[in-house]
Amino acid sequence: MSVDNTLTLNNGIKIPKVQLGTWLMNNDEVKRAVQQAVKIGYRGFDTAKDYGNELGVGKGIWNSDIERSELFLTTKIPTNVKDYKNTKRAIDEALTTFGLDYIDLLLIHSPQPWIEVNRVSDRHFEGNLENWQAMEEALKAGKVRAIGVSNFLKEDVDNILKNGEIIPAVNQIEVNVGHTPWDLMKYCQSQRMLIEAYSPLAHGRLLTNSKIKEFAKKYRVSPAQLMLKYDLQLGCVVLPKSDDIDEMKQNLELDFTINSRDMDQLKRLEL
Ligand SMILES: NC(=O)c1ccc[n+]([C@@H]2O[C@H](COP(=O)([O-])OP(=O)(O)OC[C@H]3O[C@@H](n4cnc5c(N)ncnc54)[C@H](OP(=O)(O)O)[C@@H]3O)[C@@H](O)[C@H]2O)c1
Repeated sequence: MSVDNTLTLNNGIKIPKVQLGTWLMNNDEVKRAVQQAVKIGYRGFDTAKDYGNELGVGKGIWNSDIERSELFLTTKIPTNVKDYKNTKRAIDEALTTFGLDYIDLLLIHSPQPWIEVNRVSDRHFEGNLENWQAMEEALKAGKVRAIGVSNFLKEDVDNILKNGEIIPAVNQIEVNVGHTPWDLMKYCQSQRMLIEAYSPLAHGRLLTNSKIKEFAKKYRVSPAQLMLKYDLQLGCVVLPKSDDIDEMKQNLELDFTINSRDMDQLKRLEL
């Protein structure tokens, strides 16, 4: 029986469960990483205009031997763009940079510009709706196959649900052992939005944690594999970042199951 490595978005589009994260890779590094990743079986790549590496991701895709239709590319609207006209422009610029006809998944990167996060209370409801309107139009025009949000809290999601036409396909948020925003995840999932888990390895920070190492040993897997499987068993897509071929391979080898007792303990783990 073949293993299904995909989940299905609320518009019927298949999305790979494990995708390569690319934050903090430059254009050359990411081009190489994408090419290597495709060779060992990755089909999904997560980037953003704000990572400054869309060009490298596009080159990696162009130089791979796999049909474009087999690959799944996600990018994000820059956080300082909060109006309709510049959102439209950002979408067209991204397509030009990638050298591609369409993006698989386009996200609003954050409800607030980075500079305001944790400092300013303005949630930019109007600006996010302008983002969303331009993204809905891009979807209808075939420039993107699915649209979603990232770093959205419940109130930000509700703004789109209440005033937009299309339900976001995903909310991409930080989810890892030790940081699992239950209420938000459950709320989004109840609205048929998939959760994409970013920083699934807590940015590398928890890979040497003794409690995580103990669980990993029990399942004869690495701490990274344990952490990724935890997110997958919560129904998330995971986006581990690595530019090391052995780690990349390891992050795809997740053919084990964490039993429900251990999942409960991991959920409650204080790290
Ligand atoms: N939407 C957003 O606002 C947002 C925010 C943060 C992240 N993201 C996305 O999520 C992706 C992943 O998050 P992240 O980059 O913060 O970090 P992460 O994937 O949680 O962790 C990456 C770190 O783990 C290491 N690593 C990866 N696989 C490993 C393995 N098998 N064994 C040992 N170490 C391993 C990497 O090392 P090496 O690099 O040395 O291989 C790197 O130091 C990002 O790249 C980005 O695409 C999105």
